[in-house]
Amino acid sequence: MKTLVLVFHPDLSRSRANAALMAAAQQDTDGNVTVRDEYALYPNGKIDVAAEQQLVEQHDRIVLQFPLYWYSAPALLKEWEDKVLEYGWAYGTDGEALTAKQIMVATTAGGPESEYQPVDDGATIDEVLSPYRMMARYTHAMWLKPFVVFESMELDDAALADAGRRYREALLAE
Ligand SMILES: Cc1cc2nc3c(=O)[nH]c(=O)nc-3n(C[C@H](O)[C@H](O)[C@H](O)COP(=O)(O)O)c2cc1C
Repeated sequence: MKTLVLVFHPDLSRSRANAALMAAAQQDTDGNVTVRDEYALYPNGKIDVAAEQQLVEQHDRIVLQFPLYWYSAPALLKEWEDKVLEYGWAYGTDGEALTAKQIMVATTAGGPESEYQPVDDGATIDEVLSPYRMMARYTHAMWLKPFVVFESMELDDAALADAGRRYREALLAE
């Protein structure tokens, strides 16, 4: 199983949660996990579509990792979807690149899980992440259970390390 972790954080040098998850993903995994800092690769927002498509083709599990910003992702992930998931590649005639791939979202939320409940017009985290689930469905990819870290700004070092361990397990689970 080859896993591709695409990290969409605008500034990892100022990140605690995503930086910790990314470091956990990068621990030696016999070369089976590729981790990329997409904002660092594309500081002007201009995505190398061919390179991204080739990487997706070379991996079985695609992980989209990002901090939750306004119940969504930082803008570069939307740009990545809009540019990389092309007609004729990801969908439409001969568009089968994601068929049978696995897609996992890994996100960190500043809010506690209690803020993501279906009460008082609220939404669960699964509902918040539904555009990604629908993207997976539309491209015939398999949707894996999202990996979510709540209260991402409150975690002490031990809790961050624990999140990193659980993330590695989720990334490597067959
Ligand atoms: C522009 C912006 C929007 C945010 N929107 C949300 C949000 O909708 N829900 C939430 O739970 N946290 C929200 N947060 C908090 C971030 O999710 C939190 O800062 C992040 O998970 C921390 O991860 P990091 O240490 O990797 O930066 C927002 C933060 C920023 C800067």
